[in-house]
Amino acid sequence: MENKPDIIIYHIGQLLTIRGATQKPKISGQMDDLGIIEDGAVAIKDGNFIHVSTTEEMRNRYEFGITKTLDASGKVALPGFIDCHTHAIFGGNRTAEFVERIKGTTYHEILKKGGGILNTVNSTRKLTSEELTILTKNHLDTMLLHGTTTVEIKSGYGLDLMNEIKILKSIQKLKKTHCMDIVPTFLGAHTIPVEYKYDPDVYVNLVCNMLPFAREYAVFCDVFCDEGAFNAQQTEKVLQTAKNLGFQLKLHSNEFKNIGGVQIAVKYDAVSVEHLDHITSQEIDTLSGSAVVCVLLPGVPLFLMNNTYAPAKEMLDNGLAIALATDFNPGTCPCLNMQIMITLASLTMSMTPSQSINAATINAAHALSMAHLIGSIEEGKQADMIILDIDDYQQLSYYFGINHVQTVIKKGKLVVDNKIPVK
Ligand code: NIG
Ligand code: FE
Repeated sequence: MENKPDIIIYHIGQLLTIRGATQKPKISGQMDDLGIIEDGAVAIKDGNFIHVSTTEEMRNRYEFGITKTLDASGKVALPGFIDCHTHAIFGGNRTAEFVERIKGTTYHEILKKGGGILNTVNSTRKLTSEELTILTKNHLDTMLLHGTTTVEIKSGYGLDLMNEIKILKSIQKLKKTHCMDIVPTFLGAHTIPVEYKYDPDVYVNLVCNMLPFAREYAVFCDVFCDEGAFNAQQTEKVLQTAKNLGFQLKLHSNEFKNIGGVQIAVKYDAVSVEHLDHITSQEIDTLSGSAVVCVLLPGVPLFLMNNTYAPAKEMLDNGLAIALATDFNPGTCPCLNMQIMITLASLTMSMTPSQSINAATINAAHALSMAHLIGSIEEGKQADMIILDIDDYQQLSYYFGINHVQTVIKKGKLVVDNKIPVK
């Protein structure tokens, strides 16, 4: 049989296909639909899905006896999670600052004293590219065990040409060697380094001069447009330069304050605008009708203990496209588990399990301009799929804090089997 699948996975209790949103992200009522096939089956060949149907239809199509099969009776299967916003490459950790914050010091007070992002910049600058690669590989391995099959990684803890390129080279190395898909983003405009404390505009020029070098390694350019970081004018300067060089754009905005980032994201056709914990109704209006994906990161306000979460319900009611990610980083969310974010989306932003799962898969794929390849289980797409040890998808949000991912298939290959990495 010419089209004999490499493997058929069948009797999947609930197969969440997330189909039908490859062209445009899901919005409003579409977020309530997961494209569920009961007793579902998928056929995989050469790393792609070649057929997706019920088990009965699959049996009529292919001869099970001569094909490798996997029985997923009573389980839930869905596309691998796409963590579309992380800062997963860094040295050191900020446990001591965490304890300081518990005692009442704020994130910005710590940054003003030279800690925060600057603390991590110090630790990251001390490491070689090889050391950084090893540290990050460990994070990626843990992400994979928790069901993440694609990850975006931002630079931004180097803040000078040599260190930013060192970081981007490490990401490049991982991109070539790790089974996960990795999307590199240049975030030279993460904060003003101490050397330029009194000349922030000089640093902005320096970032613009780094861009042609970063372009060799990074697909996206991001800017942290917020209080204590870059103002609107500085943000526009970096984005305009990046756009001229062919970067796709992302923006950190409204994590602490609204200083114009949302309008800038729309003006520059950014692929996504991220955080948005302090978005106003007027800014929601500005975004509605635009193609910008809103990436929400509920782990951040939780870890910062500031209790201000993005108004997801209002955003969904106004037709905005919402994605979810961890923001994994040592300062504002040292958690790399997308399953926790799915639960947090419900507990802190009243998103239903269905809305959260769409946001963590297909809409996250759109936030990386990768929805033609990943984010749903459909014929022709890359076979990235996870199988969970639950019999109803809503339990993913409900039983939280434990790892439900039993099996991970990446590009058609079994990479996690029974919760253990396949070597
Ligand atoms: O997304 N907002 C900027 N960057 C990170 C925080 C980085 C850090 O504190 O190290 C964030 O929250
Ligand atoms: Fe971030």
